[in-house]
Amino acid sequence: MSQDLLAEQPASSEKRQSAQPLEKIALLDCGAQYTKVIDRRVRELNVATEIFPVDVKATDLDADFAGIILSGGPNSVYEANAPQCDPAIFDLGIPVLGICYGMQLMNRTFGGTVLPSPTKEYGETEVTVSTDCVLFAGLDPAQHVLMSHGDSVGQPAEGFEVVGRSISTHQHEVVAAIQNTQKRFYGVQFHPEVELSVNGGKMLENFLYKACGLTGAFDLSHRLEDTLANIQDTVGDQNVFVLVSGGVDSSVTAALLVKALKPEQVFAVHIDSGMMRANESDLVCEALKAIGLRHLERIDAESIFLNATTDIDGQTVGPLNQITDPEAKRRIIGDVFYHLISDAIRKSGLDLDKTFIAQGTLRPDLIESGNREVSSQAHTIKTHHNDVPLIQEQRKKGLIIEPNRDWHKDEVRKVGRMLGLPEELVMRHPFPGPGLGIRVLCAQTPYLTEDYACVNAELQELAEADGFEAVLVPVQSVGVQGDSRSYRYLAAIKGNLQQLNWSQVRAVAQKIPNRIHAINRVALLLNEKSLPKQLKAITPTLLSPVSLEKLRVLDQLVTDGFRAEGIHDQISQLFTVLLPVDSDPQVERPLRHSAVIRAVVTSDYMTARPAALGSEIPMEFIRNLAEELSGQPNVDWALYDITSKPPATVEWE
Ligand code: XMP
Repeated sequence: MSQDLLAEQPASSEKRQSAQPLEKIALLDCGAQYTKVIDRRVRELNVATEIFPVDVKATDLDADFAGIILSGGPNSVYEANAPQCDPAIFDLGIPVLGICYGMQLMNRTFGGTVLPSPTKEYGETEVTVSTDCVLFAGLDPAQHVLMSHGDSVGQPAEGFEVVGRSISTHQHEVVAAIQNTQKRFYGVQFHPEVELSVNGGKMLENFLYKACGLTGAFDLSHRLEDTLANIQDTVGDQNVFVLVSGGVDSSVTAALLVKALKPEQVFAVHIDSGMMRANESDLVCEALKAIGLRHLERIDAESIFLNATTDIDGQTVGPLNQITDPEAKRRIIGDVFYHLISDAIRKSGLDLDKTFIAQGTLRPDLIESGNREVSSQAHTIKTHHNDVPLIQEQRKKGLIIEPNRDWHKDEVRKVGRMLGLPEELVMRHPFPGPGLGIRVLCAQTPYLTEDYACVNAELQELAEADGFEAVLVPVQSVGVQGDSRSYRYLAAIKGNLQQLNWSQVRAVAQKIPNRIHAINRVALLLNEKSLPKQLKAITPTLLSPVSLEKLRVLDQLVTDGFRAEGIHDQISQLFTVLLPVDSDPQVERPLRHSAVIRAVVTSDYMTARPAALGSEIPMEFIRNLAEELSGQPNVDWALYDITSKPPATVEWE
């Protein structure tokens, strides 16, 4: 990805500078994956942010910054190559908040000590804080936070005092917060930016409003006006091409273009890959026409996708309807999108040397892609999917616009509403580019390793100890452990649904993959059906119009059910997976599939937890839904995925 992606066009925030002084904070990134979460929280408090590498020169921070936040980071401050900051940032005369690594760095810079710890663990913990400290003003002394029990501050530097303490898992007292009131420097060992720190938002608000004296003037309606002006300035009277996928991000991009430009300048294409959710293509096309999009081409391309092949390392792979490897499926689908878009542009007679391409890239996408401008220390997590060769070529010519680049997901939703998009479209859950194509779990043979019997026995023993039945299911799904991908067994468990204890379910879901590394995902049976002692066959399944339609019907039942129950919008991402599992194959009837409900709660999709059965999802509702799913033609079990990310991923493939 281009390293100067963010630098190509002024963010809307920068343009506003001329109109009135901008309230902004410099966020110095010490390498934490949480940097974008801090960014989001500060922006939710209506304060602009700019992210810099931790070693940015103090002279590069202009006078408009009202404060600095030093993020957390994975290193130890005393390691040889640990990220360091320019000590002159502490002479700018503005307040500084150091979070975790940032606090240790600040303390060490001023001559205090940092105590090493052999292990680094994260956990929710209680801290006691001094409410005289401005960070904790208006709060109780006892606070519940997410703490990193790794290195910690030993001796506070001269001029600093301890204003928060906690007890570590090893029963040592840990310095949880420090301050230097004279310089207005504050440090916290815990992470106020994450939701698990119950009053973390208030602490950040105190830093911004009380310590830095900001007022929260960076509000969305002003930023929207800036974005529209920015689109007009950039595009002038040229044309813009936009691909609308069905998700909220690209729909908002298209809506912004329609609002900012003349209708005849905007050319949109929607590709129905045959792997969209029920009615999705109709919904998005109607909604965009309703807000004034004039040139909208819809390409129905199911059979093109399903019959497509691609070239990977000199080998032809595919066709899509014959393969099972998830990454190969992704590659083919991505390549077909690319070719169809290129064709559509050519056919529309647009001159690619003059036509802008707009895409719905969000601010966290830019941070997550390891872009040096945005996040110098964060390791590249995934190559951004918005960076195919066509986009790279246009980028070189300065012809890419990303109007959502300054916003997080919740802000894009608000903008969508302000622009008049229907609520159903605005509140759609994220949907991956390859769509239902990676939610039909494809397999032609069971996944059976030599140690199946052994692993199955170990699983059953572990589950029984906690009062659950279990069986090892011979399919693989994707997970993440550390920084690497795993592709391992699924465990199905069964408990007493009448008296389900969610904490016990969660405990067993954590214990199984922790103890048995051949398993990375656990799902709970939602029907009163029995689990076999072993399961060594599957229902051979490939991507076809039939398997996709079967999943589409099940997915719609689940989505409509959650909507009718009024709980859809509290779940971050909800979907159904078609599992090639028939627990009781019989010759006289066709082989069946099973349905898995995946409902996760997350703010950033890098980690996620399953929504809690019994509280976030009422038990009676989910059991009725399970019966409805199992009552569909040739559907066997209905399961609920009870695995967090990690060790599983949100998607199964
Ligand atoms: P995972 O499965 O990696 O998903 O935990 C995290 C988020 O990313 C989405 N996702 C994708 N989005 N193309 C996309 O555009 C993909 O290939 C893809 N795979 C996962 C997923 O839906 C979730 O929101």
